[in-house]
Amino acid sequence: VAARHLSTSQVNSDVNRVTVFGAGLMGAGIAQISAQANLKVTLCDVTDKALEVEWSGWTNPGSCSPLSSRTRQAKVTTRKIKPTDIDRNGLNIISKSVARVAKKKAPEDVEGFTQRVLANIETTTDTEKAVSNTDLVVEAIIENIKIKRDLFGYLDKKAPASTIFASNTSSLSITEIAEACSDARQANFAGLHFFNPVPAMKLVEVIKTDKTSEETFKTLYEITKKMGKVPVSCRDTPGFIVNRLLVPYMLEAIRMIERGDATAEDIDTAMKLGAGYPMGPFELLDFVGLDTTQYIADGWVEKAKDGAVPLELVTPPQVLKDLVKKGELGRKSGKGFYDYS
Ligand code: CAA
Ligand code: NAD
Repeated sequence: VAARHLSTSQVNSDVNRVTVFGAGLMGAGIAQISAQANLKVTLCDVTDKALEVEWSGWTNPGSCSPLSSRTRQAKVTTRKIKPTDIDRNGLNIISKSVARVAKKKAPEDVEGFTQRVLANIETTTDTEKAVSNTDLVVEAIIENIKIKRDLFGYLDKKAPASTIFASNTSSLSITEIAEACSDARQANFAGLHFFNPVPAMKLVEVIKTDKTSEETFKTLYEITKKMGKVPVSCRDTPGFIVNRLLVPYMLEAIRMIERGDATAEDIDTAMKLGAGYPMGPFELLDFVGLDTTQYIADGWVEKAKDGAVPLELVTPPQVLKDLVKKGELGRKSGKGFYDYS
């Protein structure tokens, strides 16, 4: 390991080992597509609970219904969801998703494909060990700048100097997160923003700060292609490309039900059938996680004070805050704008 510590801010552009922090919705997906690309993956979380496997196969598809009390006039309806949608546990999410990918990529050897991918993933709660010999760190923990900065500040001291650091933040400033690290590391630091569900969504935004080296940027751009994704480049601005447009749209949809303009269900139907979106805004809010959406909005309210984003577009609506307070976070908790129990 010591031999891999470089004296200057050089980057290891030959990425073979990836460490993913956070075994939630996004971290699980990032670990999975990395393992599918034959990279050796270490998946690290703070709790064993987030890492263990409990999968018992494709059983019990549930149904869900909109919560009328939450949405004033929402009609009750049911639709089928798959058990994978409501799981929070990293390896559970991965096992089910890989099996799904295997059915398409290797229909003749689903079991073998699944086992090969899973064999590329090890899990740990030992943060120091997780980065002692890694080429790339991708962070996908809670959307909180202090917690992210604390983690990266610690990792900076423990990881080889050549290791690239990347954050999957939805909305926070990559520059501000990177500032928790040394100047040399800041050259090896960028944003790598994946989309949910990671195994299915093709896009990755690669975000370059003023300090990100060209070599770091190029290495990340290439590795995302190896992971089967299509990279786009973006400046370090609030929400990058997709979320800058998508989050204000979802927040306005919540304001529409607060005003009584239409029901959640009708808004979802309208956006799917009238605008061609694969999910309506309430389905998407539940899919993304209401806590994550509120963290994004709260962070941007702060940014609005400096004029970085318009305050009226990003102020979190009361209905969103109420649901988060009750722990109704969307699919991952079993209930959000819709009920998945
Ligand atoms: N693992 C592996 N594969 C998956 C998967 C998963 N978890 N979920 C879906 N897929 C694959 C399916 O196997 C299927 O593949 P093929 O077309 O090759 O057969 C394909 O994706 C479509 O899946 P389904 O047929 O099961 O269902 P669908 O057509 O309803 O699509 C969906 C599901 C892809 C999730 C679609 O509803 C969709 O695109 N929804 C919008 C998702 C979205 O907008 N995501 C971005 C959220 S914002 C974000 O992520 C940024 C942020 O920072 C908050
Ligand atoms: P999640 O709540 O599903 O998972 C977060 C995981 O991080 C949890 O398992 C938690 O135990 C773990 N964690 C918290 N602190 C940690 C630490 N110090 N070290 C290791 N693990 C830690 O959240 P998520 O939806 O996967 O979001 C993760 C990140 O990805 C956030 O920054 C979010 O904004 C971003 N993101 C989310 C989405 C989405 O649709 N949910 C899409 C793109 C990006």
